[in-house]
Amino acid sequence: MRAAPSAPFTLRRAVPDDAPGIAEAYADPDVLANLLQVPFINVAAMRQRLAEQDAPGRTDLQLVAELGGRIVACAGLHPAGAHLRRRHVMGLGIGVATPAQGQGIGHALMQALLDHADRWGQVLRIELTVFTDNTRAIALYRKFGFRIEGTHRGFALRDGVYADVHSMARLHPDPPVLAWPPE
Ligand SMILES: CC(C)(COP(=O)(O)OP(=O)(O)OC[C@H]1O[C@@H](n2cnc3c(N)ncnc32)[C@H](O)[C@@H]1OP(=O)(O)O)[C@@H](O)C(=O)NCCC(=O)NCCS
Repeated sequence: MRAAPSAPFTLRRAVPDDAPGIAEAYADPDVLANLLQVPFINVAAMRQRLAEQDAPGRTDLQLVAELGGRIVACAGLHPAGAHLRRRHVMGLGIGVATPAQGQGIGHALMQALLDHADRWGQVLRIELTVFTDNTRAIALYRKFGFRIEGTHRGFALRDGVYADVHSMARLHPDPPVLAWPPE
């Protein structure tokens, strides 16, 4: 059951100066543990990554959500690799600060990223990994058409324990076609 947001939130593309705000949103151990971040997030490295994502030719889309003038969430689509034959694939990541969870922000970010992927970005497959006990995130991903494709054992060290993740992916439900009649 989703609570009403305490104030309207807005979504926009992230810029390098958002790095401190994103790091603050991710700093809560409950959020950090479910991402592949480590405590004492390297804000300078995050700022550089955000700047690099804006370089000509890059296809990343990184969004932030703002609530009450603060960044409370971040989510992005990133190329799955440099291989020509994997150009149709992107990876997805998302994190909502603990006090802002359960208010529809994760849903709105997913909707925005998938609209971009499906209608603008020429993306046919979106991949992610999620810790197997992260039921909230798995429920969100399932709602948006992601399916579990497999499980990786001991995938990442999480607060002192090697934890398992599911690989999930979503294929474009209705891939675009050419809009003119055949000759
Ligand atoms: C997972 C996460 C992104 C969801 O974002 P959110 O803003 O809290 O979610 P929303 O309020 O938009 O809810 C969207 C859906 O998430 C699921 N969800 C939300 N809260 C839930 C809860 N307490 N229990 C189970 N499912 C829940 C539901 O499917 C919900 O859909 P519904 O409201 O139609 O029932 C957020 O909790 C988060 O960032 N968690 C920490 C970091 C993380 O786990 N990131 C994902 C790494 S793979």
